[in-house]
Amino acid sequence: MEPSPLSRSSFLRRIGMLGAGAVFSPGFSRGGTYRAEKRVRVAVIGCGSVSNMYLPHLSRSPYVELVSVCDIRPERAAAQAAKFRVPNQYPHIDQLLSGAPFDLLVNLTNMQEHGRLNRLALKAGRHVWSEKPMANTYAEGKDLLDLAEKSGLRIWGAPAVVNSPQFAFMARAIQQGKLGRVSAAHAHYGHTGPGWSAFFYEKGGGSLPDLGVYNLATLSGLLGPVKSVMAMTSIITPERKVDDKGLIRVEAEDNAMVLMDHGNGVLSHVQCGFNYFDPYGHEGKGQDRPTISLWGTEGNMALIGYDWAPLSVELARSWTEPPARFATETEGYVWEQGASVVAECLATGKEPLITARHALHVLEIIEAARASQESGRRIRLQSDFAWPLVRG
Ligand SMILES: NC(=O)c1ccc[n+]([C@@H]2O[C@H](COP(=O)([O-])OP(=O)(O)OC[C@H]3O[C@@H](n4cnc5c(N)ncnc54)[C@H](O)[C@@H]3O)[C@@H](O)[C@H]2O)c1
Repeated sequence: MEPSPLSRSSFLRRIGMLGAGAVFSPGFSRGGTYRAEKRVRVAVIGCGSVSNMYLPHLSRSPYVELVSVCDIRPERAAAQAAKFRVPNQYPHIDQLLSGAPFDLLVNLTNMQEHGRLNRLALKAGRHVWSEKPMANTYAEGKDLLDLAEKSGLRIWGAPAVVNSPQFAFMARAIQQGKLGRVSAAHAHYGHTGPGWSAFFYEKGGGSLPDLGVYNLATLSGLLGPVKSVMAMTSIITPERKVDDKGLIRVEAEDNAMVLMDHGNGVLSHVQCGFNYFDPYGHEGKGQDRPTISLWGTEGNMALIGYDWAPLSVELARSWTEPPARFATETEGYVWEQGASVVAECLATGKEPLITARHALHVLEIIEAARASQESGRRIRLQSDFAWPLVRG
């Protein structure tokens, strides 16, 4: 039986966008009255589902001036321009790039379009924040980073999971040796799959770059760059009905199991899929179970909720006392903050925790997982990133 897909409206309601207040980052003004001295001019390309999360956050950042929106479905750009009072709207990237001047492109288009559009933006002298993946292959992503570095520009890719206080708590606990010698970890994330757009299931889409990407960023962020990968992937639901194209054939994996070797004997595992029944929904409200677990010789640790919207961390270090919960506040972290955070960094000269090299490493893990499925072999990785991200 085909899993019941999520509709755009039910998804937005679950994650709190419809009929609920938006969440603010520290330093961001609720009334929108404070404006930083230097503001970054931002253009958003792709005015679909996720733009409903990004645009409110961007429009409240004191470091952002929203200049333009763009979508090949012009009615979507028009609607978001009206709703968020953005002065310019365009139906094509060429018009966007030659139109009103801006500094940072926020790319929220179909996954398959990211590499091409990000390159055009860099070539036109714009910084880039890209939804995941930042390119369609590791080689393409590496080229983009080289191009950015040669041009004195910056590029970053989602997700923003390393910004959460729960990630910081876990990273510090590991660095401080609270778990003893850490050797193993597991993470999972899945739901029944988006019902609005075909690209999630077409070549270049898949549950790994859409869902597994969060867990892969979290576990590599906590345990360090991955040296090699073995994986199995499959397609469980070969046909789906989606809003934009009707009945389609599913081409990209909708079920994945990825084993990672972080070196020094440390092993971890991520599973993700578009066929997971989840009574807690996307927002994980009421979720009291871990989605990430790490084990050491002197303790174990579990992330309660999802890594993109974590609720707390449970730490067990005693034979006699029950496990205790820590990091129970969001401290302003929300998963859609990435573009606002990098805009603030461009305006102030601060360095974000999120790096292009980490996003590229995660992209290489995804590619290696697919190559492992194809060949039945263990695949070695070339890339790494500066680690640890958070010191004890
Ligand atoms: N929907 C979510 O909640 C969510 C959450 C996190 C991340 N993401 C990521 O955000 C990206 C977009 O997802 P979505 O759910 O918003 O998809 P969507 O289909 O709702 O929106 C994508 C939009 O991009 C536009 N577009 C496509 N190609 C374009 C081009 N060349 N130029 C201009 N516009 C173009 C489409 O017309 C569409 O309006 C994906 O990478 C997805 O993985 C989505």
